[in-house]
Amino acid sequence: MPSMTVQAPAKLNLTLDVLGRRPDGYHEMKMVMQSVSLTDTLILETVPGEGISLSTNLGFLPADDRNLAAIAAKKLAEATGADFGHLNITLKKRVPVCAGMAGGSSDAAAVLRGLNELLGLELTPEALARIGEGVGSDVPYCVLGGTALAEGRGEAVTPLLSLPNCWTVLAKPGFSVSTPELFRRLDSQRLRCHPDTAGMLSALEAGDLTGVARRLFNVFEEVLPVRRRERVEELKQAMLHGGALGASMSGTGPTVFGLFDTREAARRGYELVKPLCRDTFLAQTL
Ligand code: C5P
Repeated sequence: MPSMTVQAPAKLNLTLDVLGRRPDGYHEMKMVMQSVSLTDTLILETVPGEGISLSTNLGFLPADDRNLAAIAAKKLAEATGADFGHLNITLKKRVPVCAGMAGGSSDAAAVLRGLNELLGLELTPEALARIGEGVGSDVPYCVLGGTALAEGRGEAVTPLLSLPNCWTVLAKPGFSVSTPELFRRLDSQRLRCHPDTAGMLSALEAGDLTGVARRLFNVFEEVLPVRRRERVEELKQAMLHGGALGASMSGTGPTVFGLFDTREAARRGYELVKPLCRDTFLAQTL
C-alpha cells in the first residue's frame, strides 16, 4: 500500500507586524518567518475505499475532518480531481499546539507536499501554496518553508536568503492564546512600536546574525494581558541571561524563543530556561 512519511517543521517569527485591518475582517501583516528543526511527523497511507481517517498521539486534538491536515487533503482532491481512495493520516505531534509556531498549518502543508509526491501530481510548490491558502493564512508559508517574508493576510510569501545557521531555544508557557482574541485586543489600542522589517531584511541579506537577533520584534507582545506579558518578558530575559543574541515571542504566542550562535551556547541557554518552563526545546534553524 503506497505510503510516505513527511516532516512538518515549526516556524518562528523573526518579526511580526500588523499594518491594519482589512475590509474582509483579516489583518494586513508583514512578517519574517523562519523554519526550525522541531517537527511533527506525518505518515500518509492510501488504501482502497474513500474518505480520510486520522489518528494522533494527542487525544485532545480533533481526529476528524476539522483537523487542518484532513482539510488540506480534501482541498487538494477538490483542486486537482485526484482520487487517493481512502487516506490514513498518522500524526505524531511534537510541536506544541496553539503556541504561535504554526504547528497545525505546518501539518496541513506537509499533507499537501506529501500527497503531491505520493500521488505523482507534480504540482509546483507555488501551486501547492495556493491550495494551502484555502486552509489557513500561514499554510502557504509552511509549504515553502525556510526564511521568508509573508505579507497580505500571511499568504503572500517571498523567499529570502537563509538565516545564517544558528540554534534556538523555544519555551512555551503553560497558557494558550486565542488568535482572534489577540487581534481584537490589537484593534482596540494604538501600537506604540513596530519592527524594523527593512533592517531585518538587510541583516538577512548581509548574513549578519547579530543584526538579525537585535531586530527580533513582535507587536503582539504589547497587547498581551499584563500577567501574560510579564511571563513572556521573564522568559525573554532568561534567554538573554543564558547567552541569547536576541529573544522574542513567536506569532500570537505564547512561545518565546532565543537565538544562539552555537550549539554549546544554546545548550547553556536551554539549561537556564528549562527550570522556568516545562515545555522548553532546543532546535536548529533550517
Ligand atoms: O487564516 P486563519 O484561519 O489561520 O486565521 C485565523 C483567525 O485569525 C482569523 O479568523 C482571524 O480572526 C485572524 N486573522 C486575522 N488576520 C490575519 C490572519 C488571521 O485577523 N492576517
